[in-house]
Amino acid sequence: MLNFYIKTYGCQMNERDSEALACLLEARGYREVETETEADILIFNTCSVRDQAERKAIGKIGMMKMLKDEKPSLVIGVIGCMAQRLGSQILAELPQVDFVAGTDQLQNVPNLIAEAVTRHGRSAALEMGPGVFRELDGHRPGQLIAEVSVMRGCDQFCTYCVVPYCRGREKSRPIEAIVDEAERLAAGGTKELLLLGQNITAYGVAEARKAGTYTPEFSAFADLLVALNEVKGIERIRFTSPHVRFMNDKFVEAVTQLPKVCKCFHVPVQSGNDRILKLMHRNYTAKEYLDRIDAIRAKAPETLFSTDIIVGFCSETRQEFEDTHEVMRRVGYDMAYIFRYSQRSGTKAAETLTDDVPEAEKHERNQILLQELNESVARHNAQMIGQTVPVLIEGPSPRNPKRWCGRSDRNKMVLFDATPGLKVGDLRNFRIERSTENALYGTLDKS
Ligand code: 5AD
Ligand code: SF4
Repeated sequence: MLNFYIKTYGCQMNERDSEALACLLEARGYREVETETEADILIFNTCSVRDQAERKAIGKIGMMKMLKDEKPSLVIGVIGCMAQRLGSQILAELPQVDFVAGTDQLQNVPNLIAEAVTRHGRSAALEMGPGVFRELDGHRPGQLIAEVSVMRGCDQFCTYCVVPYCRGREKSRPIEAIVDEAERLAAGGTKELLLLGQNITAYGVAEARKAGTYTPEFSAFADLLVALNEVKGIERIRFTSPHVRFMNDKFVEAVTQLPKVCKCFHVPVQSGNDRILKLMHRNYTAKEYLDRIDAIRAKAPETLFSTDIIVGFCSETRQEFEDTHEVMRRVGYDMAYIFRYSQRSGTKAAETLTDDVPEAEKHERNQILLQELNESVARHNAQMIGQTVPVLIEGPSPRNPKRWCGRSDRNKMVLFDATPGLKVGDLRNFRIERSTENALYGTLDKS
């Protein structure tokens, strides 16, 4: 029996793909192992979103040459966004790599492995598009929180972003297939779903446009949430990432009213300045973004928001950056990923704009926003003291096994003393006694 090991870089979509691939390989008789050195087959699931992510993976795959010199039968495969983007170049420049498979080619990985093992051939499977991709729906057993991919690809073409090139056009799974997957997960003990899609609020949009049924009131994503809210055993539903352009009133109604949908939303803003938003091709103004946040808060006032921000995009002035800072103050995010703009070849920004904000200035802007974020998170956490919140119990804390941990419905890590009678997977109320920047400390509410 051959052992495999998958190393995953990048986003949750990649994590989910790695999980589904691991299940497929196990079904074909391969065995997953915990370390590279035990593996007969090494798979790198790569990310291209920023230059650093690609360099990290290339550095790591480069180092694998030594392992392969020691064990020539070792099979090395590269999958994911970087494989899609640079597939043939990877094969040409890294002789230790046996195969590359693009983002629509997951189901072909077992064939590529078999070919490398039996014929010692090197191959590339990079074809994308309709008809090529088959969704894999395997999950590792017994997960309290499970990721479910609902759509793939992106048709937005934000000017800085490689995703539309690496992941191809938007394609959504049928509602029934997703509900079926959720029911199977619930039967296996899953309590929380994390729905995934690069542009998740465009769920079903490409298909509706093709059928001529798309209108501004359309939100198949809201319909999907309504259907998943009915699945017995599933207690919580989260999703990532929506795009403001598709957050219409039907969406707002669903996410604020459905009881199982957690009232904390990741809504990427990228910039708070209208000229920059236009250059980024985001299709909304700062006011429109804030209006959607307000529409959600009007119906569910306790909602927490998180976001993605890019600082130092081409030609962004200090004043324009301050507009982003102002949006951060207005929303009071509870979490944010703040990125320094990284030029990616092949994108519209790389071809038509100049990456002219100096690295030191990008760094400074990043620091300013991190400071703002820390203050706003500390404020939120302090406000939680004295409140009682529902916590999905995850078990011993990885840092201190005497303590247990779980997440609140608003995605806050809550730590508490291990208490007899508490079980992993229980949903129990905790009273928050104190808070730090990273966590809340609570006691079980016995009432
Ligand atoms: N440079 C910096 N950040 C980027 N992102 C996407 N492309 C780039 C880039 N070229 C960020 C965006 C996106 C998140 C996943 O990564 O903020 O929402
Ligand atoms: Fe990239 Fe924009 Fe699509 Fe998000 S919406 S994946 S940032 S192109």
